[in-house]
Amino acid sequence: MKTRVAVIYGGRSGEHEVSLRSARSIIDAMDSGKYEALHYVISKEGKWSPRPILPEPGGNPGIDVVFPALHGTFGEDGTLQGLLELAGLPYVGAGVLASSISMDKEMMKRIAAARGLPVVDYAVVPCNGAWKREFGFPMFVKPANLGSSVGISKARNEEELLAAIELARQYDRKVIVERGITGREFECAVLGNENPVASVPCEILPSREFYDYEDKYELDQAQTVIPADLPPQQTAELQRLAVECYRAVDCEGMARVDFLFETATGRLYINEINTIPGFTSISMYPKMWEYSGLPMPKLIDRLIELALERHETKQRLRYSK
Ligand SMILES: Nc1ncnc2c1ncn2[C@@H]1O[C@H](COP(=O)(O)OP(=O)(O)O)[C@@H](O)[C@H]1O
Ligand SMILES: [Mg+2]
Repeated sequence: MKTRVAVIYGGRSGEHEVSLRSARSIIDAMDSGKYEALHYVISKEGKWSPRPILPEPGGNPGIDVVFPALHGTFGEDGTLQGLLELAGLPYVGAGVLASSISMDKEMMKRIAAARGLPVVDYAVVPCNGAWKREFGFPMFVKPANLGSSVGISKARNEEELLAAIELARQYDRKVIVERGITGREFECAVLGNENPVASVPCEILPSREFYDYEDKYELDQAQTVIPADLPPQQTAELQRLAVECYRAVDCEGMARVDFLFETATGRLYINEINTIPGFTSISMYPKMWEYSGLPMPKLIDRLIELALERHETKQRLRYSK
């Protein structure tokens, strides 16, 4: 009997198209001798086809495990994970809390900072726009809960800052401002439940002022270097921080942890953690694992194994006296 894997993709977020590409690569890489892929497509309007997952335990008898391949809002942020918890289905990747914390750039920083992990200086912009300025320009302005660089701007002066805040506000009621870091960008893949492990890291070389939406998905000009050209101790430090960040947000399954390296000070900062990283043919999460000795079919085996393991552990828990 093959394991029936419901791959859920598409979705209402701005990363709908990226999700279609991620799902395609995941399904193509799945060992067809072991798995039967069931397609669950969510339209940009939120309509499911062929049918939605039902929130009742036992209500989805044709599914053995779910692979959420949705990026961003309503897929990576804990909402879908909540449905899967209600349904009692095993699923790949982070649970509800880790998903929602990781999606929120402020919460993630708070949690990481509480563990003593390095995050860049930031402030949440209140509705009246006034906050205590503790760092200067350039600044990065971001909607707190989004991805793919949507709504993010670099501000070099007051005028740009106001415009950037206004833009970010269109995407989220919570807007954050960060000190701009001049230097390099790195990424590291993490995999596991209780004992997460880090991959060989990579470096991203944006072709634009920063790694914006066009650079990520349209221009095809950004370059990636794998393994990242770093001295061994810095590689080890980056991997350690990636795993620490993963643990701090209580992540399970997988995540990609992204870093900013400040050239002037030599300091490494955790920028963000993505609990459903891109899985397209050019995405770094599977590439970093491939380089680390885990080709995509094996990576998928492992992710499904981790999903089933977690489910089994949780089934032993009691929910009432
Ligand atoms: N504080 C910062 N300093 C310098 N560059 C930044 C900073 N924050 C973000 N960037 C740039 O903007 C890109 C997108 O920001 P990020 O926080 O990763 O958002 P997203 O979740 O949309 O990927 C980063 O890859 C980097 O190029
Ligand atoms: Mg990013």
